[in-house]
Amino acid sequence: MARLLVTGGAGFIGSNFAHFVVNHTDHTVIVLDKLTYAGNRASLAGLPDDRVQFVHGDISNGQLVDDLMSSADAVVHYAAESHNDNSLDDPRPFLRTNLVGTFTLLEAARRHGTRFHHISTDEVYGDLKLGDPHRFTEETPYNPSSPYSATKAGSDLLVRAWVRSFGVPATISNCSNNYGPYQHVEKFIPRQITNVLRGLRPKLYGQGRNVRDWIHADDHSSAVLAILDSGRIGETYLIGADGEKDNKTVVELILTIMGQPADAYDHVTDRAGHDLRYAINPSKLREELGWQPRYRDFEDGLTATIAWYQDNEEWWAPTKDATEAFYARLGQ
Ligand code: NAD
Ligand code: TYD
Repeated sequence: MARLLVTGGAGFIGSNFAHFVVNHTDHTVIVLDKLTYAGNRASLAGLPDDRVQFVHGDISNGQLVDDLMSSADAVVHYAAESHNDNSLDDPRPFLRTNLVGTFTLLEAARRHGTRFHHISTDEVYGDLKLGDPHRFTEETPYNPSSPYSATKAGSDLLVRAWVRSFGVPATISNCSNNYGPYQHVEKFIPRQITNVLRGLRPKLYGQGRNVRDWIHADDHSSAVLAILDSGRIGETYLIGADGEKDNKTVVELILTIMGQPADAYDHVTDRAGHDLRYAINPSKLREELGWQPRYRDFEDGLTATIAWYQDNEEWWAPTKDATEAFYARLGQ
């Protein structure tokens, strides 16, 4: 049994991780979350108080981070500004949280010798061409495109430097695009699902040929637990579940599952610098740690996710109007 400090645990993937830890391990969790526009305490509702403790605060607060780290066996660092479109609109919070926040946590881990697992994204590698047989591996050179992915790349490099220079016992994982419950309606899949639920048309950037490699958030969580358990210190592991799909296919699938005509969506202004394709080769994780994804059928996982948004309107409704107003300003 371990005491895990989970930063960003009121966000999409961090809250799914807290649920997963409670359901599949005997670890306890301390969530540290600033509750930005993307954080929601309701995502942790129903979790037992004796297993999950919530602390409201900023990962850039050195004193708070130091106090919490002193009683943790390991840190799992999810907290970040996470949305590309926001980073194109105003990059400043991305630099503060993703770079200064990660630095603050690393300094505390260094003082306390705390096991550190850094959650990152495949977007640090830039993008691949359509139809290219290559996928990202742990050896792919960093080539981030957006302020979001550049700050995530910077945070990964800070972690590597703190391992090498100061001996912080850290690992890094770079995961592909997640889907599942508790994802903010600004992101692609929940935006389209909630648009249909609101009687609005889904919005596809450009022609929708861009490819993302989808993985269910629970499969991300099981991979992170495997790395915490038996990953080698200083190593990076790519997490993916062979889920490549282009955006047009995903929108059409959402519409079809929701009983709408498959072409009932709008093409809108494309994202600046829009990465074409992400794809993960997860061989290292699978062969070294024996990890396997549980959600192998995207349509099944998507159907369950749609059902979750249908059943949990009170969770997403308060953020929907402001999100659509933001996109309307961008012409998206
Ligand atoms: P999210 O935006 O849903 O959640 C981020 C959480 O961090 C929120 O609860 C927010 O309140 C909190 N937070 C933000 N700034 C903070 C600060 N300064 N101090 C404390 N808490 C703060 O993001 P997500 O999609 O759950 O992503 C979580 C992590 O996973 C990120 O590091 C992201 O880069 C990474 N990741 C995401 C994906 C994806 O598909 N969403 C894929 C791979 C990796
Ligand atoms: P997103 O969920 O923002 O994730 P990321 O940028 O990290 O991949 O977007 C996923 C893909 O969907 C990306 O190619 C942009 C596209 N997209 C749309 O076509 N329409 C939308 O309304 C949104 C939010 C994204």
